[in-house]
Amino acid sequence: MYSDADAAALYDHLNPWGPSDDFYLSAVLGARSVLDVGCGTGRLLHRARESGHTGRLCGVDPDVAALARARRRTDVEWVEGTAAEMTWDREFDLAVMASNVFQVFVTDEDLRASLAATRAALVDGGRLVFGTRNPRVRAWEGWNPSNPIDVVDHAGRELRISYRVEAVAGDVVRFTETTATRAGERLRVDRASLRFLDAAGVDRFLGAAGFEVEHRYGDWSRGPFTDTSDNLVTVARAAS
Ligand SMILES: C[S@@+](CC[C@H](N)C(=O)[O-])C[C@H]1O[C@@H](n2cnc3c(N)ncnc32)[C@H](O)[C@@H]1O
Repeated sequence: MYSDADAAALYDHLNPWGPSDDFYLSAVLGARSVLDVGCGTGRLLHRARESGHTGRLCGVDPDVAALARARRRTDVEWVEGTAAEMTWDREFDLAVMASNVFQVFVTDEDLRASLAATRAALVDGGRLVFGTRNPRVRAWEGWNPSNPIDVVDHAGRELRISYRVEAVAGDVVRFTETTATRAGERLRVDRASLRFLDAAGVDRFLGAAGFEVEHRYGDWSRGPFTDTSDNLVTVARAAS
């Protein structure tokens, strides 16, 4: 048995600060009011405060255990809920969806509603910054039990994390994440689905939600996007 609280702590352990976080942090530090959509355990906004951001920082996520970790910092607003449920009206200069949150919106309906609520939360001319994995690179093909990740968690437990793709239906990949002991005892199995939209699809949904693509990059150093880029990084402007 591995609790939701353990899984949230393990997430932070498995996802140390990296180049994408630096990319998002520089955007956050350049904006006065920031909405972190799918903030998870709050690592980005925690770091923003620690780095001297003095404006409004607000994180939204439906995962109660992740938010409990986020709430360890009380000088940031934390809101439990989904992106589609957000009701802010032109309050933020910047919205971010860090660590591929964009991919959790797997249906057209949820993606439309999530982007519409994000647009509504932004002032005219505000920015949405996010990345999504490039479908052409087919990252999911590496998500199989022959590529496990061995970790020692926050409590000193030696674990083996493995992934298995259960189905690929159109651009949606459904998979499991299994947390086990090194001896193979299963402690927890999480199921998730992620959507791999191509650039044209991303731009179509953004346009319909009232965004104009301002910059498109293929990596976290602002290199150009190509067919072989791992990431499709977008800075979109909320049109008036
Ligand atoms: C890969 S994690 C990224 C967390 C965080 N942004 C980070 O950089 O560490 C994806 C997050 O999306 C959240 N999520 C899932 N469905 C969501 C939804 N409909 N609206 C907002 N967030 C959602 C999950 O709870 C999870 O915390």
